[in-house]
Formats: sequence, C-alpha cells, structure tokens
Amino acid sequence: MQLLILFTLFLVGTFAGPCGNRNTGKCGYESCHPIKDGYINVHFVPHSHDDVGWLKTVDQYYYGTNNTIQLAAVQFIFDSVLEALSKNPDRRFIYVETAFFWKWWEKQNEETQAAVKDLVSSGRLEFIGGAWSMNDEANANYISIIDQFTWGLRKLNDTFGACGRPHIGWQIDPFGHTRQMAALFTLFGYDGLFFGRLDYEEKSQRLRNKTAEMIWQSSPNLGRSADLFTHALYNIYVSPKGYCFDIKCAEDPIVDDKESPLYNVEWKGEGLIDWINNQSSQYKTNNIILTMGDDFQYTAAGINFYSMDKIIKYINSKQSSGSKINAIYSTPSCYLKAVNDRNETFPTKSDDFIPYKSDKHSYWTGFFTSRPTQKYYERRGNNILQTCKQLAVQSMEGFKYESKITPLREAMGIMQHHDAITGTAKQHVANDYARILSNGIHECVEATSTILSRISGFTKSNYTTCPLMNISACAVSEQSDQFLVTIYNPLSRPITEFARLPISDNDSYDVIDPQKKKLITQIVPLPKSVIDIPGRVSSAVAELIFEATNLPPLGYKSFIVRKDPTKKTTNGTFTRSAQLENNSVDIGDKWFGLKINAQDSRRYTMYVDGQEIPLTQEFMYYKSMAGNNSEDVHRASGAYIFRPNGSASSICDHLNESKIFKGPLVQEIHTTCNNWTSQVVRKYKGDDHFEFEWLVGPIPDNDNIGKEVISRFKLSNYHNDKTFYTDSNGREMLKRVLNYRSSFDLKENVENISGNYYPINSQIMLTDGRTRFAVLNDRAQGGSSLDDGELELMVHRRMFFDDDFGVGEALNEPAYGTGLVVRGQHYLTFGSADNQFAVQRLLAQKKLIRPQYLFSKISPAVSYEEIKSTTTLEFSGMKNALPDNVQLLTLEPWKEGTVLLRLEHIFEYNEDKNLSKPVVINVQDLFTKFRIVSLRETILGGNQWLSQHTKLSWRTEDNTIVKEEIPISNNGETTDPKHISLTPMQIRTLVAEIVPAY
Ligand SMILES: *[C@@H]1O[C@H](CO)[C@@H](O)[C@H](O)[C@H]1NC(C)=O
Ligand SMILES: [Zn+2]
Repeated sequence: MQLLILFTLFLVGTFAGPCGNRNTGKCGYESCHPIKDGYINVHFVPHSHDDVGWLKTVDQYYYGTNNTIQLAAVQFIFDSVLEALSKNPDRRFIYVETAFFWKWWEKQNEETQAAVKDLVSSGRLEFIGGAWSMNDEANANYISIIDQFTWGLRKLNDTFGACGRPHIGWQIDPFGHTRQMAALFTLFGYDGLFFGRLDYEEKSQRLRNKTAEMIWQSSPNLGRSADLFTHALYNIYVSPKGYCFDIKCAEDPIVDDKESPLYNVEWKGEGLIDWINNQSSQYKTNNIILTMGDDFQYTAAGINFYSMDKIIKYINSKQSSGSKINAIYSTPSCYLKAVNDRNETFPTKSDDFIPYKSDKHSYWTGFFTSRPTQKYYERRGNNILQTCKQLAVQSMEGFKYESKITPLREAMGIMQHHDAITGTAKQHVANDYARILSNGIHECVEATSTILSRISGFTKSNYTTCPLMNISACAVSEQSDQFLVTIYNPLSRPITEFARLPISDNDSYDVIDPQKKKLITQIVPLPKSVIDIPGRVSSAVAELIFEATNLPPLGYKSFIVRKDPTKKTTNGTFTRSAQLENNSVDIGDKWFGLKINAQDSRRYTMYVDGQEIPLTQEFMYYKSMAGNNSEDVHRASGAYIFRPNGSASSICDHLNESKIFKGPLVQEIHTTCNNWTSQVVRKYKGDDHFEFEWLVGPIPDNDNIGKEVISRFKLSNYHNDKTFYTDSNGREMLKRVLNYRSSFDLKENVENISGNYYPINSQIMLTDGRTRFAVLNDRAQGGSSLDDGELELMVHRRMFFDDDFGVGEALNEPAYGTGLVVRGQHYLTFGSADNQFAVQRLLAQKKLIRPQYLFSKISPAVSYEEIKSTTTLEFSGMKNALPDNVQLLTLEPWKEGTVLLRLEHIFEYNEDKNLSKPVVINVQDLFTKFRIVSLRETILGGNQWLSQHTKLSWRTEDNTIVKEEIPISNNGETTDPKHISLTPMQIRTLVAEIVPAY
C-alpha cells in the first residue's frame, strides 16, 4: 500500500509539466488522490451551486447581467475553473448543471474544448448529477425527471464518453428528498447520493448516532437493487464558516509568508483542524467531506484554489509532527470510493426525507403548492413533449424534427429545477420560465402538426392547438361553422375521452366520427365565473361535449364538427334547481352517484353500489402567519414555508347557489361559493370517478392577510387510524402517519398542520381496510389528512410577507392587473379495497398522459365526402394495445437510425390481483409504422449498456451485502424484442434499431 502511494506521487512529479496539460487516461474512482490509513482523510470538494434561475433568469445568471440583484455570472466560472485546474494537477472541481455547462461549451473554440476534455478524462473535472438541472424532488413527476436526466447525460456522454458519465447524485439544495428520486438514481446506475437538506431533528439525531450515512431502501418493488448509499452533508453544501475563499465572501486569503505581518495560515489552519475533528467525530469512517463552495462561486477560481492549496499544505505539513489528519483535493466520487473501501456496515432507511423543516416553525411545505398555474403549465409541457417525440419517431424521419423537439426538452429540464417548478423564484424569473416553456411548446407543436398532416394527408387547412382550453377558450371551435378536431392519444392503450369544445352560442352541432357516424352531443353552459376570468378573451359561453370512444394507442381520431344553424334548441340538456327533484341522485346513479344537500351545498350524499355515504367537500382557507422573520417564532408563511395562523375556516356558507345540468353524456352540479370561489362537480357516462373542477381567485388582498386555500373532502365515521398514503413523484405510494416519522423521533412538532403536509403529484388516499377513498389531482399540490376520513389539497395561496429564505418577495402573484386566478381538477374515487388501486392507477395515468387536441378550420363548402376521401381520419400507431399494467413510457428519436424505447410496469406488487403480476410483452411487430430489428438494453438514462454496467457493493448493518441484482437475464448483448418481461414498477430502457414496417 505504502509503495503504491509513493509510486503515484512519483508519477505526479514526473508528468506534471509546466503547463499542467497531463492526461493520465484515468477518471472516476481511478483518478482519486490516495487516502491514508490511520488518518482522518479530509476530502476538499470544490464546487459551485448554480441555480438554473432563481433571483435572476437563466440567461441573467449565465451572462452575469443584473448583478445588483445577485452577483452571479456562470460563464466566467467555467473560464476561471479551467484556468485554475490547468495550473495544478492536484486540484479537482465538480460540475452539476448541464443546462449551464452546455450553454458555455457550445461557444468554446476547439482548443478550449480539448483542454476541457483533457481535464474530464483525467478526473480533474468531474460531472456529478449531470442532469439538465438539479431537479426539485417534491413536485417533479417521474417522467420529467427521467427525461431531464436523459437529456443532460446524453450531452455529456456524446461529448466525453465514459469519463463524462456521472455516477453520483448531488442534490445538495432541493428542499427535501423523495424515495422515488432515490430509486431513479439506482436505475440511472448511480453509486450514491449526497444531499444537504433534511429535517434538523433527523439530522442532529443522525449526526449524534453517526448514521448520517445510510443505505436507502428506495423501492419495495425493485428490492435490493434499489438500495442506494446516501450521505447527508454536514454543512448543507457550503464551506466551513470562516473558510469561504471565494471572491464573493471577501474574507482574507491564506497568507503563509512568515515574514509578513499578515501571516495567518497557522491560526486559520488550526481553526479548520478543530472543525475537521468535530465533523469527523460524527461520521462513521475516517473520511469526511468538506464542501468548499456556495451559490455561484468560483468566478475567480484562482483565488479559491490559492488559499485551498495553502491550507491543505499546512494541514499535511503537521503530519511530520504527529498529526493524523490528511487533506486532499477530492470529489464526491472519491469520497464515496474511500468510504466504500472501508467495507463498513451502514443502517438502512425506507421512508423519505419529506417534509423538510429548518427550524421549529419552518416547514418547507408551502412550495408544494406555490405558483399553481406554473405547476400546471409544466405538466402540460410534459404532455406535449411526449406527444411530439412519439410522433417524430412515427414519422420515420425523427432526425428531421430534433431541432423542433430539443427546445421543449431543454425547457422541461429547466422547469424541473428546484426554484422553477417549486414556485420559489422571483416573479420576473417565473415570467421568464413561462416564456421559455411557451417557446419550447410552440416548436414541438409545430412538429406535431407537420407530422400529423403527413400521416393524415389532410390538406384543407393545418392543425393548430388551443392552449387556452383550460379556461374554455378556443378560437377555431368558437368561430368556425365547420372544423376538424383531431385527438391524439399518447397512451399505449386505447382510451375513451369526453371532448369538451368551447362554443359561442347554443346552436346545434353535428359531430361525425371517422366511421361517418353522427355522435350524441350535449351542450353545457359555462359558469359565469369562468366567463369572467380576468384576461380571458373568448366568445365561448358553452361547451359542446361528445364521446370520443376508443382513441387508438399512439394514434388519433378526427371528428368533423359542423354547425347546424337550422336547429336552435339546446341539445339534450336541461337545467333545474336543486330543490325540484329532491329524491333523485343529481349526478350518476345509485351505483355511483352524488346528490347535493338542498340545505347545505357543502354536503353531499354519495351513492356507491346502492349504499349512501355522507360526503362533505368544502373550500377553506388558512390565514398565513405574518412576521418579520427576526426569530424563528416570527417566521412568515411564504413561497417556501407554509405556516398557518390557526386552523382552516370555511370560505363558502351553506346557502351557495347551485345549478344542475343533466344530459346523456355528463351530469353536472355548478356551485358558486363566493365571488372568487366556484366549482363544477361532474360525472361522465360510465366513469368510475367524480370530477371536481374548481376555480379560485383572485384571493382578496384587502385585509392584507395571506390566505392559503384548500379543498377539503370528508367522509364521516371513516376509520383510517391517522394513516394516509401519498404518491412519490407520481409513482410508488408511501404510508404517512399523522405526527409521526418512522426514521426519527419527531419531538418539536409545534407546527402540526404544515408538519403533516406532503407533496401530492398524483394521489392521496385513505383506507379503512374494506374500502379505499382517494383524491387525484392534475398538478403538484400540498396535501394532508389531518383527521380521520379527511383529505385536503391546497389549491392556491396568496401572501404578503416574504419568508426570508432568499427569494425576497412575498408570493403575491399578479395576473391581468389583479390576483392570479387558478382553475384545476380533482378526481374522487371510492370503492372496495380489492379493485380500487386499479381504478386509481389507470385514472392517474390517463390524467398525466392526456390526449392532445388539434383543431383545423374547414370552409363550410367542403363536404364530408371530400374530407373523408382525402384524409386518414383514424390512425393507430400500434397494431395491438399494450396490457393495462404496461405503459410505453418513452418513444423518442435517438441516434442514427435508432429510437429510445422505455417500458414500465405501472403497478406495485401488492395493488391488484391481476394487474400486479409480472408481464411479458412482444414489441417486435407492435408498431404500425416501423418494425424493430434489434434491441439493446441500457441503464435508465440511455448512457450505458446495461450489460456493461457495474455497481459498488455495500453492507447494511443487518450484514447483508447489497449487490446489484440485474432483474433480467442479460447475458447476451441484445434483448429479444418478442419477449420483454416486466415486474411490478420495473422500467426498462432500450435502444431499438427500426426499419419501416411496410
Ligand atoms: C436587468 O437589467 C436590465 C438592464 O440593465 C434592466 O432593464 C432590467 O430591468 C433588469 N431586470 C431586473 C429584473 O431587474
Ligand atoms: Zn439552489
């Protein structure tokens, strides 16, 4: 061992030329500086935390404009780090956010690019994390996380090869950590995860017990292969106090010139040694990590490295007089490898790190809901991206559309950033995110339209979208006497969808399907509250509804809609007041229906299989705590923090106006709660759930008291024993128990409303053992169950105080000269415990990966026959549907003649008698446009062949060895497309060579 160390040092001495351009050809674990047995090894990890937008926009951060807002200029970080690393081959630097790196890389000349490649291939510059941004974990959906990793990792892989492949998760700033994110890291092939933020009670307990390093058992479905080494960082992610050497800190550099009166290395060095001893006493091995950096540091990296060089030298110089501390430049990988080499055992953890609390009164659970319209827009972006990627593959000329898809890929990567989707950026930055996303969507939709025209042959006009359908506005459907509506289904199974098209009068319409069948239609008026949404420019006063049955998988149906001005009656619709038919069910039937209480419109009777169950649904609000944040107890509720001042009070009184609309396709109860809160509760024919479409805002600001609005559902006498279940990033479910954490002692629980809030990406559920009661949503929201039988979701918040975590603005979102108005949907399901999981899973999937609507205006002179004879009105991308428990998660153009294909099992092992079973599928001749000639499996990010992937092993305290179990036999290089097996919650990523199917 000693010999080897000497030999390595010798090599360094020999090859380090004056310009420092030295390529050892070794990166990753092989490029680490050696550690010393019998010493505390101190790993100095120089890094810069570069938010992809927060107080400044992405571009303002990159170029370094607007420095009065925040001194930050990312482009100069790369320039200066490159120079500093070249000067001394011992130095190391890690970089995380590929969005910024790529922006810089593309602008460099060949010489600079070669110098960077040299640093990467010698492990001196290492990519960690490596996704487009450091994504938020609470609000991000798993599909978008996978996509943004895939894109960042692909850029690195294509540019740097194996040495550019990150294998460490570096989630240093996100505000809490989900178990699904950990599971995804294992699937991306990462060896470990480092993060900075966890409940301070859990952190102090872990430091005391030396359990801040653990094996996170991140998926009960994937088993031991989803075990992840996890390290909670000692000092969040910043330099030890007093040792920030960055130009931004304006602290003294290290002076080691004994002749100088400024000589300070000794007392500075001794101070750091105290810190090191203290930190080391709280971790299990003889290694510790010093995070040497902070937000946007290293713009003048020479200054940082100069002082680090000197202090490392000082610490090591003391070894000759018996010091047992060894300081080295390092990276998280090298730290992790050193820890792994100790063969130590670690405790396990199987819950998550949510919610995060940074002091007694500061639960970071407000950002689960902050900026609700931005959170919805992000979900739409994902939907549109999946559609345009699928269609690009089906066009068989995917490469032609790369430039149309990439802006949305990158926009979605930016949106996942932990100040973007979280709603914790400044208002001008949020506006810029909307601009970026809107541009990306625009390009992708253009590709979608072009490809659809090619597939359909439709030439009478083009395909356009109606991005404002969420406020019931669409120029084509409102203003045309004849138009085509094309509904594309991005799911790999057929679905039936009730289309709702905004129309400007109560005229009669004919809707004709691709088989020339005239469909049943229904017209329902828009509530006045919708018509009055500020900023809404639309003539629509009603919606035309028809049933689009059996939309083909990865395909579409086009419907011709023609106005019939001769018929003036409203079609199949009538209204009545709640009092008139007291005895009947208002929406649905006795098997699945709702009846509103005539005396109190917050109360319903729910009919399920002939049984009557009392249900309450009401809008309430928490008053936001005001405060100046001078002490913990004066913490204000803000963009990050949810701190209610007391319990929730009701917004609506019991005498709300309600109207009922019944027809052959949908039955609706429209209620108006007050002049800023209203709702439509509906049930479509044959559906297994109720839809609650809420409209909230502008939240009044006249009393200057912040308000955080919830929708609360309650079943009386329901016994769920203080236990509820919430999804993790829209995937596996986690058990939550009121006022309880399974992996630490929750002692300081004064904020016991916000401390029980969890992020809801798709569903929150209760069970009494016999039945299940769940509410699903259409965007990320905070939610909880504060009392038995109760479920609540926070839909909107408006506040007048900043919570002092940096954003410096109160979350008081304006829109159209007043407070923001939000419209969204909740879906309530209830039924027998045996089959409800299937209902919830399939519904969640359908609401996440929605059909995309395209509209084409057609002159009334054009006859149906003319359209039909020239246009393919129905198209399926698949010859057969995939089984209900399998989803085609990704289909996107990859490289030269290949496509990236991801398949996932969408059920957990214990959810459904049939659908939870493992499944085998054949994809060879599955698609109509192409045939798969070969398949090769990769790790989740597509950046390494699965057969070439290796992982480090870890030992848990119960002394089992965590070894990677590759769940499928993959002895050969290729995978048989005729036989792809999937176990519950498994995702398989495959690169497919394809040829045209004909
Ligand atoms: C950023 O700087 C530009 C140019 O000085 C200025 O016009 C703009 O208002 C600034 N933006 C913000 C958000 O302060
Ligand atoms: Zn950050």
